[in-house]
Amino acid sequence: MVASLFFSTPEPPSYRAQQIFSHLTDSIDRGQRKRPLGLVSNFVADQLPHCIAEIKGSKRPDEGVKALGRSINAMIASTDYDVQLLNLPQPDFAIAKTDIHYLVNCAYQMSAFAGLHPVEAELTVGEELSRLARLSRHRQPSIEVLSYEDMILANPVQSDPRVYCLGAAGVEERDFCLGHQLIESELQLAIDALLELRDGAGADARQCLAVCLERLESANCVLTRFYEHMSPDLFGQFRVFYGKNPYKNRLGPSGRFSARIVAVSVLLAGEELFQQKPQFYRDVYRLSEYYPQVCIHEVFRWLSPGKSAELTPTWLEGRADFPRSATISPVMERHGPEIGKLRASCVYALDQFTRMHRITALKYTIEPGRPIVGVEASESVEAVLSQRLLTAARP
Ligand code: HEM
Repeated sequence: MVASLFFSTPEPPSYRAQQIFSHLTDSIDRGQRKRPLGLVSNFVADQLPHCIAEIKGSKRPDEGVKALGRSINAMIASTDYDVQLLNLPQPDFAIAKTDIHYLVNCAYQMSAFAGLHPVEAELTVGEELSRLARLSRHRQPSIEVLSYEDMILANPVQSDPRVYCLGAAGVEERDFCLGHQLIESELQLAIDALLELRDGAGADARQCLAVCLERLESANCVLTRFYEHMSPDLFGQFRVFYGKNPYKNRLGPSGRFSARIVAVSVLLAGEELFQQKPQFYRDVYRLSEYYPQVCIHEVFRWLSPGKSAELTPTWLEGRADFPRSATISPVMERHGPEIGKLRASCVYALDQFTRMHRITALKYTIEPGRPIVGVEASESVEAVLSQRLLTAARP
């Protein structure tokens, strides 16, 4: 029996995959309210998009954003949110942390929009909100800006989404997060099957790889829906809110920081990736604080067997062999060519995902010149977008 799952399991993908980006409605149906921080959560879910729209349309956005910051801080000061935050059960805490970081991110992004000086931007974020944000990171260590985990994994997009935009752009923004979440669910199922194969005594290799292939192909279908149905105009409206922090040298939330993509890649083709794309591993370790922490540290644990997960493992510096035990490669050696072909099909499907993703990124961000959020100035975007592509993936 394989050790039970270490990642929180997302909702299973559903018919919703076929519905994202359908542009049939321009309002969000909030099925089940998730408001762990009471007034603060109500404000984020119900009021924030209206406040943003008002500031954007006003003649004095600088005054508007400062007033918004003051009212958020007054709201936080009026109740003892510290105790509330620290006592929430974990799933509610994750949503509360998202609410707090949505507010912090909004204050910075709107301060930049209004042309505020860095000192004024810090005052706009305010002491009460900053303190609550620090407290949330104290309970769950994470990067001090809105993370992929906050925006995609913890955001209750299926029942009570947190978004920055109103109307059709808000619905598209919700579907953008939902599409990512659906892909994350598919990746988790692929990971489960690969872990069963790698760690389960007597696992049925054909069955495990067939499930993995099916899930990766399903993830590809969701990604294709982004490419075919997402509106470039609506995307442009919400994308700006998820940019790099304009005042801190910090990257924005990006699919680049999906730890599950890393996990599937390592399990399926970790050694080949190391041989062909060692930079991929260097970047994951270098940017590790941007990833969902529990999941990425579990992957690091696989990659440093017998040791506590290192920050730069010796194999990455060429001082030891790559830890093949992190991957399904050792198990594959016990099987014949038929199972080998099935694995090659999985690797091909993963590569197809990367290819499909690259043309999607080109269509929506690079070609129209929209901000790149998860790439540092010193990096080449093209290199990032092909950092996991294998040269011999075709089965
Ligand atoms: C329309 C949808 C999408 C667009 C326009 C897009 C755009 C980008 C861009 C511009 C990058 C470079 C880093 C950055 O600036 O953030 C990137 C990286 C990345 N994104 Fe996306 N992305 C989209 C959807 C997704 C989805 C649904 C996933 C799935 C989790 C994902 C996973 C990744 C990964 C893993 C990388 C790093 C490159 C790689 O390893 O292949 N992206 N994306």
